[in-house]
Amino acid sequence: MSISAVAKSERLSAVVSPFSIESEHIEALRTQVLAPWLAAHKRNACLRLWSMSCATGAEALSLAMAVVEALPDWQRLDIRILATDVDAGLVAQAQRGLFDEAQLTGLSPAMQLRWFKPRARHGASRLCKVQPELLSLIRYAVFEPQVKLPFSGPIDAIFCRNSMAYWESGLQQTMLASFVDLQPRRGLLCLGADERHLQPDSSYRRLGRGLFQRIQAP
Ligand SMILES: C[S@@+](CC[C@H](N)C(=O)[O-])C[C@H]1O[C@@H](n2cnc3c(N)ncnc32)[C@H](O)[C@@H]1O
Repeated sequence: MSISAVAKSERLSAVVSPFSIESEHIEALRTQVLAPWLAAHKRNACLRLWSMSCATGAEALSLAMAVVEALPDWQRLDIRILATDVDAGLVAQAQRGLFDEAQLTGLSPAMQLRWFKPRARHGASRLCKVQPELLSLIRYAVFEPQVKLPFSGPIDAIFCRNSMAYWESGLQQTMLASFVDLQPRRGLLCLGADERHLQPDSSYRRLGRGLFQRIQAP
C-alpha cells in the first residue's frame, strides 16, 4: 500500500471503529451465508470464511461474532475463519487480540462485555483482550497474492476490503479471477469502499454496495 493510502487508513481508523466498517457486509454474511447454511442443515459440511487483508484483526473477529450469534452450537461444527495480511507484524498483532477500548465503540456494550476482557488502565487508554474462544475460530497467516493462495476452496464468504485498490490492475484482475474458483454457488464476495471501481466478472451478481454473490458453480 502507498504511504498516502496508509496515512488515509490511519486517519480513518482514528475516527471510525474498525468494528463498524460497512456493517451491511456483516448483515449480508448473516442473511446470505449463515442463515441459508443453517436452513440447509449443512451441519456436516464445512463453513469457510476469509478476511483477506485482516490488518489488526477486527474484520475477522466481526465475522467470528456473527458466526457465534447465528450458529449457537458453533463449537461442534467445522467452521474456520482465515485471516491473512501481507504484513507479518499486523498478523502477529491480530493474533494477540488486543484492542484499545476506544476501538470497540462500533460494538454494542453487550458485545464488548461478552467478548473483550479489559486490562489495567494506562493513562487515558485501556487495552481489552478478546476472549480466546472467539480467537479459536480464526486461523492467521501471512498472505502474498503474488506468490500463491494459502488454501483451496470452497470459501463461503471472502472479505477483500480496502487493500486491493492499491494493487496494480493486473494483480487486481488475477485476484478477482482466482476468487471465482474458490467460491461455491451463493458464495459472498465483499469489496471495500476503496474498491468500488472494481467489478468481478459475470460469475457474480451484485447484491449491494461492494457486495456480490457467486451465481455459477466452478
Ligand atoms: C486499510 S486496511 C483494511 C483492513 C480491513 N480489511 C478493513 O477493511 O477494515 C488495509 C490492509 O491491507 C493490507 N494489504 C495491503 N496489500 C495487501 C496484499 N497485497 N495482500 C494482503 N493484504 C494487503 C495492509 O497490510 C493493511 O493491513
